[in-house]
Amino acid sequence: MAQSVLKVVDIKKSFAGVEALKGVSLEIAPGEIHCLAGENGCGKSTLIKIISGVYTADAGYIEFGGRSYQKITPIEAIMNGIQVIYQDFSIFPNLSVMENLAFNTELADKRVLVNRKRFRKIAEEAIAKIDFKVDLDAKVKDLSVADKQLVAISRALMFNAKLIIMDEPTTALTKKEVSALFKIILALKEQGISILFVSHKLNEVFEISERFTIIRSGEKIITGNTSDLDDKKFSYYMTGREFEDLSFTAKNVEEEPVLEVEDLSLGGCYENVSFSLRKGEILGITGLLGSGRTELALSLFGLKKADSGNIRINGKEVVLDSVAAAMENKIGYVPEDRLTEGLFLSRSIGENIIISDLNSLSGRAGVYDFKKKKSAINKWVKELAIATPDPDNACSTLSGGNQQRVVLAKWLARDLDVLILNGPTMGVDIGSKHDIHKILQSLAEKGLGIIIISDDLPEILQNCSHILIMKDGRVTARLDPKKIREKELSEYMM
Ligand SMILES: Nc1ncnc2c1ncn2[C@@H]1O[C@H](COP(=O)(O)OP(=O)(O)O)[C@@H](O)[C@H]1O
Ligand SMILES: [Mg+2]
Repeated sequence: MAQSVLKVVDIKKSFAGVEALKGVSLEIAPGEIHCLAGENGCGKSTLIKIISGVYTADAGYIEFGGRSYQKITPIEAIMNGIQVIYQDFSIFPNLSVMENLAFNTELADKRVLVNRKRFRKIAEEAIAKIDFKVDLDAKVKDLSVADKQLVAISRALMFNAKLIIMDEPTTALTKKEVSALFKIILALKEQGISILFVSHKLNEVFEISERFTIIRSGEKIITGNTSDLDDKKFSYYMTGREFEDLSFTAKNVEEEPVLEVEDLSLGGCYENVSFSLRKGEILGITGLLGSGRTELALSLFGLKKADSGNIRINGKEVVLDSVAAAMENKIGYVPEDRLTEGLFLSRSIGENIIISDLNSLSGRAGVYDFKKKKSAINKWVKELAIATPDPDNACSTLSGGNQQRVVLAKWLARDLDVLILNGPTMGVDIGSKHDIHKILQSLAEKGLGIIIISDDLPEILQNCSHILIMKDGRVTARLDPKKIREKELSEYMM
């Protein structure tokens, strides 16, 4: 490797006795795009903060600019061309773009007076470097998330960055914004700047990086060339678990459809949508943002009544004009944002599970049957392997993946015919994702009709028996996942 821009050697760091980093090493070459990957909590952000001088390592050292440091200050990091784009971008929403570019907290006390005119010129050059068109006098708070990020990147460029570290930069971006960001990263590479791209998403690692390093529980597992990486290896390095292949084939499919949707329309949202679902099947619905898929799901759960068309459940025509009507017809819905829509985080795990099942658990006299309640809760905690020492603990004590399981348990505790899930594994880690897929497939096998709405294409391909593509409110394609690859599927969506 050519003289590296950054070398990190055997870094250790503990917080109050908890070892966040147990001796991590990392080396980055000039112009290299390197992905730092690992599951939530594995120590990625801690490592970055040590590289940028925010935290001091307990042991190990860092080399840049031909010098070795045991301790570095934020200013030394900046002077050596290290720039970090944090998840919050560290920008000042009430200041203008120009003021944000000018202002650097770390350098504030070393501020050099520059005349405004000259400064504007430097700022213009910085945004031009990434072809970023923005009004320098606009308030940053009025910009989109993607543009705020570009302000932060432009600012990094003003300080002659040699290495730009981006901590999970795609978290709040749309697909389109992610591909715009990737273009910028490639342009920066062309200019000889190295990028350390922090992510826990396989598709991003594949798409953007040349080399990768994976950390698990504070330990470096491997550094390698991304071209040697595949799905299976990535999951294994990230989790230490081997996952069996979960390609879904519908078995035990009932002959008659449980749900039939015919020419369903809702003004401004979707038009003439028709499909049918049988028990035992998993239908995947995908499409870009604004395709109408979420509104369709909301209609099926009685939250947004359709204007016209028919819905039949077990052959009988139904009107789904309320959640109560949907639940009466044994339809369940796991919303997109489990945290705000699906759960009462301050209530116990157990309460969250049985919340939708109060009727069937109350005894004949309307008295709540506690024994029955406890055993129902325990059954679902066990069945869905919810990782908790006690279901009486608050739901907020669980990780994202486990909260998602509670949402599932909540619906399964009712006796459903159809379960609709919107983005069922969004934001959960690989291990939980695999487990949730396995649970959904086994539920289908036991006779549930399932609809998965998702833009995670591998998820759709792996778990569904058939796929609908929606675009601008219409069904534009019906596909068989066994006969199509991810690339073709994404072309259908465009
Ligand atoms: N300032 C801190 N005080 C105490 N614990 C911390 C602090 N920062 C991080 N940790 C802990 O260190 C571990 C690694 O965290 P982090 O580096 O943020 O992980 P990642 O960025 O990979 O999700 C976690 O267990 C986290 O709780
Ligand atoms: Mg982090």
